[in-house]
Amino acid sequence: MKAVIAGTGSEVPPKIVTNDDLSKIVDTSDEWIRDRTGIMERRVTDEGTATSDLAVIAAERALTSAGISPMELDLIIVATCSPDTLFPSVACIVQDRLGAKKAAAFDISAACSGFNFALSAAAAYIESETFKNVLVVGADTLTKYLDWTDRNTCVLFGDGAGAVALRGEKGDCGVLASYIRAKGEGRDFLVMPGGGTRDPEMKNGRFIRMDGKEVFKFAVHALEDSVKEIIQKAGFTFEDIDLLIPHQANLRIIEHVRKKFNLPEKKVYVNLMKYGNTSAASVPLALDEAVNEGRIKSGDLVVLAGFGAGLTYGSNIIRWR
Ligand SMILES: CC(C)(COP(=O)(O)OP(=O)(O)OC[C@H]1O[C@@H](n2cnc3c(N)ncnc32)[C@H](O)[C@@H]1OP(=O)(O)O)[C@@H](O)C(=O)NCCC(=O)NCCS
Repeated sequence: MKAVIAGTGSEVPPKIVTNDDLSKIVDTSDEWIRDRTGIMERRVTDEGTATSDLAVIAAERALTSAGISPMELDLIIVATCSPDTLFPSVACIVQDRLGAKKAAAFDISAACSGFNFALSAAAAYIESETFKNVLVVGADTLTKYLDWTDRNTCVLFGDGAGAVALRGEKGDCGVLASYIRAKGEGRDFLVMPGGGTRDPEMKNGRFIRMDGKEVFKFAVHALEDSVKEIIQKAGFTFEDIDLLIPHQANLRIIEHVRKKFNLPEKKVYVNLMKYGNTSAASVPLALDEAVNEGRIKSGDLVVLAGFGAGLTYGSNIIRWR
């Protein structure tokens, strides 16, 4: 039994914040942000919108495109590190709002790697025939945790959600292999310190803190490793890959890996110019756009790979149905 991606969906908030907009509030410029990251603009939620609001819309679209009704769902996994509340999970809110009355629901916390982690878990449930129809959502609204006076972080992130509806099917298509890893010793390089049990009163602040240089070094290695390992694990070569969808954090990280493995530009999907780093949403949002643009056809071999806080990293390889 394989976990086949039967449908995809995504949602981003309507408000666009350009690099020029940011240059009015911090000492930065469109040129600096483009040169160092590739980002041109990002989407930002308004005060009244939480992660689940984006997640539900992305989920509905994925279910519609898959032709799976909410009542047919056995499990909902939401990858997020910006839940509406510490508990209940975003997945339970999504379950209720979809009316997926027969589904179990839980969140996975692996920051920007979350979608790849959640997809690997969903695939394992389906392959073991524990569940048949599984919804996986990656959703984050990290702009709510940005210090808009800190130019090191506020230029990087944006909000969004992406989803896939998976169905168990026999055959050669679907998730062929998954690879997930963690390096907890690097946990201090990218942190949202406040709000947890170490600091429930947020004395350390309510903003993301990052050592950009350390994260950059890790990210290059993690993306390289995730792509190489999954291709080897599944018994393919780089030439076999039709499309790589990497985590959309920084164009320099993606370009480093693309050149290292000699992949032509057309085989690597990039949309971070429009959205910045949308954390757990980044990979499924890019996947949904790639599908809608006709960049993936039946039989294609697609690699999804990511890295993030934790530190975490991982990948999935999919034969497209
Ligand atoms: C954050 C990042 C873009 C910074 O790029 P960088 O090339 O490492 O830049 P540096 O930190 O060396 O800073 C270079 C200079 O630009 C300045 N700078 C930093 N942010 C700036 C900004 N937004 N605008 C203008 N200047 C900025 C620095 O202060 C520094 O100035 P100095 O030379 O006078 O000290 C890069 O480190 C990065 O992308 N890291 C990974 C972050 C990431 O992906 N996080 C999420 C992972 S899931």
